[in-house]
Amino acid sequence: MLKKCDYNMPISSSFFQRLQPSLHELVDRYGTPFHIYDEAGIVSSHQSLTQAFKEIKFKQFFAVKALPNPAILKTLHSLGSGMDCASVTELELVTRSGISGKDVLYTANNSSTKGMKEAVKIGAWITMDDITCLGDYTPLPDVVSFRVALGNGNSKLMGGDESKFGVPLDSILSAYKQAISLGAKRFGIHQMTCANTLDINSMLDGACRLINLASGISKKLNINFEYINIGGGPGIPYRLTEESFNIEDYAKKIISLLKMNFDIIPTLFMECGRFISGSHGVLVSRVQTVCNKYRTIIGLDASMASLMRPALYKDAYHHITLPFNNTELLGTFDVVGSLCENIDKFAICRELPIPRVDDIVLIHDTGAHGASMGFNYNGHLRPAEVLLKRDGCIKLIRRHENFMDYISTIIDDE
Ligand SMILES: Cc1ncc(COP(=O)(O)O)c(C=O)c1O
Repeated sequence: MLKKCDYNMPISSSFFQRLQPSLHELVDRYGTPFHIYDEAGIVSSHQSLTQAFKEIKFKQFFAVKALPNPAILKTLHSLGSGMDCASVTELELVTRSGISGKDVLYTANNSSTKGMKEAVKIGAWITMDDITCLGDYTPLPDVVSFRVALGNGNSKLMGGDESKFGVPLDSILSAYKQAISLGAKRFGIHQMTCANTLDINSMLDGACRLINLASGISKKLNINFEYINIGGGPGIPYRLTEESFNIEDYAKKIISLLKMNFDIIPTLFMECGRFISGSHGVLVSRVQTVCNKYRTIIGLDASMASLMRPALYKDAYHHITLPFNNTELLGTFDVVGSLCENIDKFAICRELPIPRVDDIVLIHDTGAHGASMGFNYNGHLRPAEVLLKRDGCIKLIRRHENFMDYISTIIDDE
């Protein structure tokens, strides 16, 4: 048996302390599984990012795909955040949330014509993912911006050298030349300069390459970039052993890179999702079964349909705690869902207090790319989403899916 340690990390102790007293009641009220988000934490992360860049013109566009719930989007927008959309549905969601115009950035890959038209209609900033997009936009958007494939090798999420995203580096100059020949006068540039990264040097390396590239294009073609978009991607400490990176330090270095490269510094855009909301969510679940097989397996009432990251990315880690299990005895367990896929595992060989059926289980750091990646395979219904508001009130912001939702798109004429 292993020694017990601090199992309340890595969500912030402030969130945990405000959450724990209401947990039993919330579980009774809403039924598990559900994601709960900490509005105060989300607000504070947004503010720490914008504060760090206050010396220059800076705009953060929340990556809607990370947590596409209007309650979150509206709160962030009220703080000055823009929204980064990558699909027609996301564009519709932000517009319905009262957000449009230059508060919206459209950075889609392989975009549909409908998506492009919608983005133009609402007056969004548009990032073109390929040179061929120049022919798709007639007239051209007021500001022409390309996503460039810098082949940043640190990025398994972005595909490294075989990334399907962006204009290949060796074609980027001709992309801007072509835009100029078509009459473009205002310009931006974009690249995801990191992807779920905590290593400040590798983040800076990506940003530096983009800033240098923009400066080079600017000189060669005698154009000014209105903005440089270094994308999202700053990571969060999912593991106990990891520490948050120093955002002030990162910002200072980016600002000095910009100063070194430009007389008139372009506005800096970022599209962070995970950094803003990732640490401020937990998936609340319950132990459904405890079985002895090759190891003891804890079966939860949540599955990869509620949180796909651990199954999707080989090294993805989510901390797990049992907040009301006070046993001193620890064991090593696999924590799994009930979906008919062997990859439906939240943790393998994880040290935890010996669990009992019905124990409440918290899976940490589900505030970004968690609920939004949910799906219905195997008839699994998407979980509810709950918001712990800044004033301490608790609000249901998405109900559990039910059977009628599951069959709502089926056409059965028989
Ligand atoms: C174009 C783009 N912008 C922003 C993001 C947000 O990334 P993160 O949530 O890691 O900051 C993503 C993530 O997939 C993305 O593809």
